[in-house]
Amino acid sequence: MIAVKGLRKTYSNNGLAVEVLKDLNCKVYPGEIIGVVGASGVGKTTFLHILGTLDRPTAGSVMHFGENVFSWSDAGISRFRNDELGFVFQFHYLLSEFTALENVMMPCLMAGESWARSSEMAEEILVDLGLQERFMHRIGRLSGGEQQRVALARAMVRKPRLLLADEPTGNLDERTGNRVADLIFELNRRYGTTVIIVTHNLDLAGRMGRSIGLKDGRTFDLEPSQLKGFGVGQDG
Ligand SMILES: Nc1ncnc2c1ncn2[C@@H]1O[C@H](COP(=O)(O)OP(=O)(O)O)[C@@H](O)[C@H]1O
Ligand SMILES: [Mg+2]
Repeated sequence: MIAVKGLRKTYSNNGLAVEVLKDLNCKVYPGEIIGVVGASGVGKTTFLHILGTLDRPTAGSVMHFGENVFSWSDAGISRFRNDELGFVFQFHYLLSEFTALENVMMPCLMAGESWARSSEMAEEILVDLGLQERFMHRIGRLSGGEQQRVALARAMVRKPRLLLADEPTGNLDERTGNRVADLIFELNRRYGTTVIIVTHNLDLAGRMGRSIGLKDGRTFDLEPSQLKGFGVGQDG
């Protein structure tokens, strides 16, 4: 479980303090797939980065599996991030000169797995994502939807307990985006991965059991019927 308590984040812009997250409290249960929604600039990415330990809160705590992760050393936090979390962003950040297989093998190799084992793990998740015909394709030769599926494979190859996705369909046309979203739901079911998806896409948010709405630096629990009028479905 993830438990967020009294989370605050203040940025300083040219000496001017900007309070983005003022008092966030929420819980996410194991195996859940939830949305994070809200207008552009409200702090969704900031929130996701803090949940993923990519950024530190100004105050408050983030408990992952009963542990206050920001009380750990930097090395402990990095190990936790590498072993337990997977990330997908709006842009794929894959290495374009390498093949799909090589890109997906990389987290395994960096974690000390053998070449053979890394290759086996990468092939398995690429097959899960319908990319069995694309192992040896260089990233630059793949379509946008295929690239995002490879990015999803790279995030999932070590079977993280938590997948964090920031507008993962934001750069894709509707049909391709829906296909990527379907695959995320399938991974959630197959591996029991907890998934948190930041999205502007009203249809996508509506498919999740519930969403966390962000407004004025605070969180709101939203049922699918409450999504409209919460800045969801707007551009940005
Ligand atoms: N590193 C930073 N330094 C200063 N201000 C930032 C930084 N990152 C984000 N912000 C500001 O925090 C606010 C929330 O940003 P963000 O989390 O990206 O919003 P969202 O993802 O909801 O669009 C914005 O006003 C943004 O300009
Ligand atoms: Mg954002």
